[in-house]
Amino acid sequence: MFFPATSFGCLSCTFPICCSGVCLVLTLTMSVGKVPFLEAVNGSTVMLPCTYASCIGIKDLYFNWQYNDNGTMQKVCDAVIPTEDVVPDVKVFRERVEFIGKNHKNNISILIWNITFEDGGLYTCFGRNPKEKNKNHSAVFHLIVVDELRVVDNTLTIIIASAVGGAIAFLMAFMLLKNFTLFVLAKLEEKNKECLVSSSGIDNTENGLSGSKADSKPTPKKK
Ligand SMILES: *[C@@H]1O[C@H](CO)[C@@H](O)[C@H](O)[C@H]1NC(C)=O
Ligand SMILES: *[C@@H]1O[C@H](CO)[C@@H](O)[C@H](O)[C@H]1NC(C)=O
Ligand SMILES: *[C@@H]1O[C@H](CO)[C@@H](O)[C@H](O)[C@H]1NC(C)=O
Ligand SMILES: *[C@@H]1O[C@H](CO)[C@@H](O)[C@H](O)[C@H]1NC(C)=O
Ligand SMILES: *[C@@H]1O[C@H](CO)[C@@H](O)[C@H](O)[C@H]1NC(C)=O
Repeated sequence: MFFPATSFGCLSCTFPICCSGVCLVLTLTMSVGKVPFLEAVNGSTVMLPCTYASCIGIKDLYFNWQYNDNGTMQKVCDAVIPTEDVVPDVKVFRERVEFIGKNHKNNISILIWNITFEDGGLYTCFGRNPKEKNKNHSAVFHLIVVDELRVVDNTLTIIIASAVGGAIAFLMAFMLLKNFTLFVLAKLEEKNKECLVSSSGIDNTENGLSGSKADSKPTPKKK
């Protein structure tokens, strides 16, 4: 059974949840979620997700969102967050943008209302924490604006991941089932042998039980 064991080892390293383990990361981390892109229809309203995490805590964390306009970074919004769970005063530089994260649980997500094709592209969620020597941290989110929603692309990675997981689970289930079946068959065989031995020895079918009530006479008919 070495195959499933090694596979599980590999899987746990490729899953982002396991490897970027929240409190093993000591520096500031910016995260745009497990799926760093979104395909949305023009005219819809989308959220660009971003959260930050820091084990040493934050003080006057500076953050912004930037839009990569063909190589030049345009600031979308920015603010300084004094401490965690304080709603910061966010300056917005781009139209139809709203700061909805409100720094609630380190949430600095933004909303873009009524997106157009010009809104499509790469957005960077940037953070800098003075508590850790002003090092820069960022995460990039890709907004793809489409005419009609095509669902397939978005779920592809999830499908692959679950397919791999499913295949392994299936394999394990199959192996367990196989072993179990073999076990049951062996047991049955054992039992059959026992049965054969015991039934051949004693034969205690009692005669005389059947036909004991044979003396019920039909009522005689008088003429
Ligand atoms: C999306 O774009 C298409 C083509 O430019 C346009 O015909 C359509 O009205 C747009 N839809 C919305 C909801 O803006
Ligand atoms: C992007 O930049 C390249 C060269 O820097 C230029 O040729 C192209 O027209 C630009 N595209 C847009 C949409 O501005
Ligand atoms: C988005 O579009 C709707 C309907 O077209 C409009 O009522 C609303 O004001 C727009 N919102 C923004 C923030 O532009
Ligand atoms: C961030 O806040 C928005 C708006 O309240 C919410 O929709 C979103 O789920 C939050 N994201 C996280 C990671 O908590
Ligand atoms: C951090 O980002 C700022 C711009 O926001 C830049 O001026 C500075 O050089 C960057 N520092 C490092 C170490 O990359």
